[in-house]
Order: sequence, then C-alpha cells, then structure tokens
Amino acid sequence: MHNAGLRSSGRDYDDRAMADDPVGSKVQQAWLDLGVAQCGYCQGGQIMNATALLKKTPEPETQEIIDAMAGNLCRCGTYNRILAAIERAADKEVSS
Ligand code: FES
Repeated sequence: MHNAGLRSSGRDYDDRAMADDPVGSKVQQAWLDLGVAQCGYCQGGQIMNATALLKKTPEPETQEIIDAMAGNLCRCGTYNRILAAIERAADKEVSS
C-alpha cells in the first residue's frame, strides 16, 4: 500500500516516510500484527492520524483514541481492530 501526496506541516508524508519514523513504524507493525486492513482504502489516513496521536499523546486513554480517530471513516468497519492496533502501538493491553 502506498499513499503519496499527503501533506502535513509543509512536509510530504507517505507510507515510506511513516516506516522511517519510529512511531509510524510501530503503528504500521501493529496494523500488520492485527490484520487491521480490509479493503485498505482508508488505512493510510488511519495510520497517519494514529501516528500523530501517539506522537502527541504517547499513552492515550481509550476515549482519547476514539476521539482522535473520530474523523477517519472506514466503510469496512475496522474500528475495533484500529483501536486495538493503536493500543498495541502504545504498549497498552489489546482490546478484545
Ligand atoms: S478498510 Fe476499507 S474503508 Fe477502511
């Protein structure tokens, strides 16, 4: 999966840039470990938003994760796996 052309703070970000970032890499690995993606359409944005959350709040509460991710829609309904992956990346217990 490669998502190019997204910009934040004047810098281009894509999945390769995320892999070079320690937090982004941890989030991507959690995504893979838990098999989060279904069709994959929304996943680049989900991963970038999750990474931004963990950079700002390294140990978020569950509700903080839900609130931070509320703007990222997933038509496949992978929300429970997304939450579990973010908790895993934050070294929290994985939600069932
Ligand atoms: S995985 Fe299909 S839209 Fe999110």
